[in-house]
Amino acid sequence: MKTVIIGTGSFAPPRVVTNDDLAEVMDTSDEWIRTRTGIEQRHISDGPGTTWMAAEAAKLALKDAGVEPEDIDIIIAATTTADNCFPSAACEVQGILGAGNAVGYDVSAACSGFIFALHTMDGLMRTGAYETGLVIGVDNLSKVVDWSDRSTCVLFGDGAGAAVVRACEDGDRGLLCGRIGSDGRKASVLTCQARTMGNLLTGTKPEPGYIAMEGQEVFKFAVKKVPECVESLLKSADTDMGEVKYLILHQANYRICESIAKRLKISMDKIPMNIDRYGNTSGATIPILLDELNRQGKLHRGDRVVLAGFGAGLTWGALLVEW
Ligand code: UT7
Repeated sequence: MKTVIIGTGSFAPPRVVTNDDLAEVMDTSDEWIRTRTGIEQRHISDGPGTTWMAAEAAKLALKDAGVEPEDIDIIIAATTTADNCFPSAACEVQGILGAGNAVGYDVSAACSGFIFALHTMDGLMRTGAYETGLVIGVDNLSKVVDWSDRSTCVLFGDGAGAAVVRACEDGDRGLLCGRIGSDGRKASVLTCQARTMGNLLTGTKPEPGYIAMEGQEVFKFAVKKVPECVESLLKSADTDMGEVKYLILHQANYRICESIAKRLKISMDKIPMNIDRYGNTSGATIPILLDELNRQGKLHRGDRVVLAGFGAGLTWGALLVEW
């Protein structure tokens, strides 16, 4: 039994905020952001949030796959910015789509979320319990960045990507293998504290929490851990990097992707990029990129691609997919 991606979709809010727009309201510049990160603009939601973006991406993925909402058995949404504590983003999307035969829930692995969700979906599909699934990576980080912290707020954007998957009994294509990992000992280098809850007994008032990051620590972790993970993944699948058409990496920083390419001794031609247009959309970067490649006709039957991500937790993971 293999889990095959049969359709993709992605969505970002229409409002584009350029580096120059940010430079008008804070002490930064297009030059600093562009040279340190590769980002030129990001999409920011001016109202509706995670559920809206996720549902739009999901509708496009269903259309691409030719699947009706009632045919979905399971929805897993990867997000750390669900609109509500509950219900989950997945259940809300289920409601919007009218996917009455599905079960839905969220997974939380920050920027590695889509990899964790797809890996989880693959495990469930292999049990034979589900036939058709919807995996979503979505984040609305603009609502949790500290807009007075220029070292983090310029990096992030909002967006969603989705993939429809189907369990297939035969054939070579599909998810071939996966690796996921976490190291909670390093949890403090990238955090978004939970909203402080109100407390009746102490009189504590609810307060929002914001993203805080030791950027260079995350940078060092990513350029070491991701190549190790990809190498271990390929070794277990007896596959050579030469057989991999694209390494579809989490879009956090152009320089991180360059360093990973260097460590893996591959050309940047193998690493598609769109960080210039979206910034870091956390759990959405990988499925948005996958959808763009799919729609541009750059993925052909038999192509092998590796999806790899890293992020808060700290978490990381990689999946080998035969298209
Ligand atoms: O999805 C995973 C989440 N995050 C990441 O993957 C991020 C990983 N880290 C990074 O991408 C990089 O560490 C950053 C892009 C966040 C920062 O780049 P850096 O080369 O590590 O810069 P830095 O933090 O060392 O800052 C260098 C300088 C500092 O000024 P001084 O102390 O040298 O005078 C900062 O104050 O750049 C300054 N700076 C800025 N200047 C203009 C920091 N942010 C900005 C800004 N505009 N937005």
